[in-house]
Amino acid sequence: GVKKKIGMLPGDGIGPEVVAEARKVLDAVAERFGHTFEYAYGDVGAVAIDNSGDPLPDHTLKICEESDAFLFGAIGHPKYDNDPSAKVRPEQGLLKLRKSLGLFANIRPVTAYDSLIHMSPLKTEKVLGVDLVVYRELTGGIYFGEKGRTKDGAYDHCTYENFEVDRIAHLAFQAAQHRSKKVTLVDKANVLETSRLWRERVTLIANEYPEIELDCMFVDNAAMQMIQNPKHFDVILTENMFGDIISDEASVIGGSLGLLPSASVGDKTAMFEPIHGSYPQAAGKNIANPLATILSAAMMLDHLGLVNEAIEVRNAVNSSLKIGMVTEDLSKKEGYGTDRVGDFIANCIADGEESCAQ
Ligand code: IPM
Ligand code: MN
Repeated sequence: GVKKKIGMLPGDGIGPEVVAEARKVLDAVAERFGHTFEYAYGDVGAVAIDNSGDPLPDHTLKICEESDAFLFGAIGHPKYDNDPSAKVRPEQGLLKLRKSLGLFANIRPVTAYDSLIHMSPLKTEKVLGVDLVVYRELTGGIYFGEKGRTKDGAYDHCTYENFEVDRIAHLAFQAAQHRSKKVTLVDKANVLETSRLWRERVTLIANEYPEIELDCMFVDNAAMQMIQNPKHFDVILTENMFGDIISDEASVIGGSLGLLPSASVGDKTAMFEPIHGSYPQAAGKNIANPLATILSAAMMLDHLGLVNEAIEVRNAVNSSLKIGMVTEDLSKKEGYGTDRVGDFIANCIADGEESCAQ
């Protein structure tokens, strides 16, 4: 077995509940495959502000820096949402985490599960077979440019340097090699200079991947295509803010936000988190869907080179969907508790596959 240091940042709202279930699953993996996972827990987000006044305390950052990978639950609390003047905000913790750890690529796969397709807001024939992944640049652009107020206005600068485009472009092309061999660059090159830079660099890099087809699409058109013809997309490569928007749009077409994982990678450690937010209304009620976090843990296992272990987790998740061992959001009836779903998946992995097919 291997030994890995895993950071755990449960965060706000339902974060602690879903991370607890992912922990059970990771423990089951460790036990079954003879690995040692050393966990370290840290506060982040609103809970960290409450406890220490800082949405990303140094102690938490240190845990992440020293980890091989870390799992992140969710952040955000309604008490900050309607207060644009709040000086400290939970989101700052997440942005600082991304920037300080150099997590420049945010990877968001969107898979439409056949058994859940009836929950999609789109017509079934449009959604069946959708399998795309967004490569969103995460540490540059308008999110991190100079921002401020003028006497009678405000500004947010959007800047990109060549290397920031190049490094994520390579990751996107490499991902496409293992998929349908197509990259769509989403930009606004008819208007923005940074987008023209993206097109230039990405077109250049595409030459290094002759087997991959590159297509470029304006973001407004891409937003429309995502609804009209989502199967058009395989790997979407885009800058920070367009990626934020397009990935939320893409995330609902499968019909189940509660199932989507994500990874944020850089040169050193990597972060894994569910796409969904902190869902404060459900906090403490044992109703939140833990599958997105459990699937994020599977992405983490892949990243750590534990590929068979990741497959095992995904198989167990598929079993839980197949037999309806799911939370209320995916269930026609009452649904099972967050902890029951986690127990089922952990037991599946602990016992080997036979027991979960029942
Ligand atoms: C996301 C979120 C964040 C973002 C917020 C919470 C800062 O929307 O991870 O997509 O805009 O990047
Ligand atoms: Mn977002």
